[in-house]
Amino acid sequence: MDKLIITGGVTLDGDIRISGAKNAALPILAATLLADEPVTVGNIPHLHDITTTMELLGQMGVGLVVDEKLNIEVDTSTIEKFYAPYELVKTMRASILVLGPLLARFGRAEVSLPGGCAIGSRPVNLHIEGLARMGADIEVKNGFIHARAKRLKGAHLVLDQVTVTGTENLMMAATLAEGTTIIENAAREPEVVDVARCLIAMGAHIEGAGTDTLIIEGVQRLGGTHHYVLPDRIETGTYLVAGAMTGGRVKVKDTNPAMLESVLEKLEQAEIKLNTGDDWIEVDARGQRPQAIDIRTAPYPAFPTDMQAQFTALNSVAEGSGMISETVFENRFMHVQELQRMGADIKLEGNVAITQGIKRLTAAPVMATDLRASASLVLAGLVAEGDTLVDRIYHIDRGYERIEEKLAQLGARIHRVPG
Ligand code: EPU
Repeated sequence: MDKLIITGGVTLDGDIRISGAKNAALPILAATLLADEPVTVGNIPHLHDITTTMELLGQMGVGLVVDEKLNIEVDTSTIEKFYAPYELVKTMRASILVLGPLLARFGRAEVSLPGGCAIGSRPVNLHIEGLARMGADIEVKNGFIHARAKRLKGAHLVLDQVTVTGTENLMMAATLAEGTTIIENAAREPEVVDVARCLIAMGAHIEGAGTDTLIIEGVQRLGGTHHYVLPDRIETGTYLVAGAMTGGRVKVKDTNPAMLESVLEKLEQAEIKLNTGDDWIEVDARGQRPQAIDIRTAPYPAFPTDMQAQFTALNSVAEGSGMISETVFENRFMHVQELQRMGADIKLEGNVAITQGIKRLTAAPVMATDLRASASLVLAGLVAEGDTLVDRIYHIDRGYERIEEKLAQLGARIHRVPG
């Protein structure tokens, strides 16, 4: 298993380009299953989760061609299986996203039930209940979701909880259903909007993307398109925090500040200077130590749970004390114990992490348990005294494209040790 070694204490300075959003690219690749003509997807990040999705589509018989610009052309005309095996679903929960499209277009799907994961139990009951409300015949047996439907029917769905992939799965399924589907309490994340944009370009009738009510008028078929994936707002936020924590200057390009309002607001509260343009953000923290801040995670447009771990790391070295409440996932504080091993003063009380900032963390061997937790350990390593060794970085490779190259471009002393 590869590891990262980071020698702390370098002030980051430089510019980097942000990749396409993992959490948009994954559902969009699943959405291609709905089209009866080839769909090309551009700005796909080079990540392990993308490879897993390609493997998932490939083993169904779907044709995939990657061109020299790394666009992926997906051709579903050769599909022969409607199946997502446990071996792939267990490594990537987002595999559940093929359920809605397979069922809507081919009338059947067998998808392994994802298990619990490092950040909580993460059930998929709302995906299943929604599809059942649209007329699917669904049975959960031997660890698999077995779903059948002649043609799904439009339904009025009110989601009990805001769910990102749940909204995407139901929206995708509804595009080919008979009649109108209304999804209330829908997720408003920019990635959901990007999936809707792609579906609309394929011929779907969707209104309300970006609001909490989606209205989808089912159509008979969807066709081909070329879709360019939006920038990754979580990758963007992670590098901005890296700049802020190291007292440096980091400019992130090819991104969109409008998608990060709640994150930028928190950086401003931490008294970090920000400059923004249409597609770039610069954090300028030279000669400055961030002020600790209070944060409460919640669905978009509130502060994203996917940035919680990184801000916990920031608070660990900030001036003063801060309180971070996690309300989206039940168990997303696995990084806290590892940060404590690097000297951080953090107390966990239920779903709240109370930090008392210290001037300098100390290096330690640490281990990552999930993607964003791993990112927070890398950030901590950048400001720790000594060499931090981050183990199990396959979690990072699932969601951050070439993290060590991008950080090295900003001046960080970081390298990968193959294991
Ligand atoms: N939930 C249910 N039942 C369901 C679905 C969700 O109870 O059927 C609960 C979950 O247990 C959780 C809450 O609803 O407490 C929200 O979960 P959501 O369904 O929104 O999460 P997700 O769709 O599985 C996506 C991202 C996550 C991100 C969350 C929240 C993708 C592929 N994944 O997950 O990304 O944390 O939304 O914003 O889009 C990451 O990139 O590191 C990551 C974990």
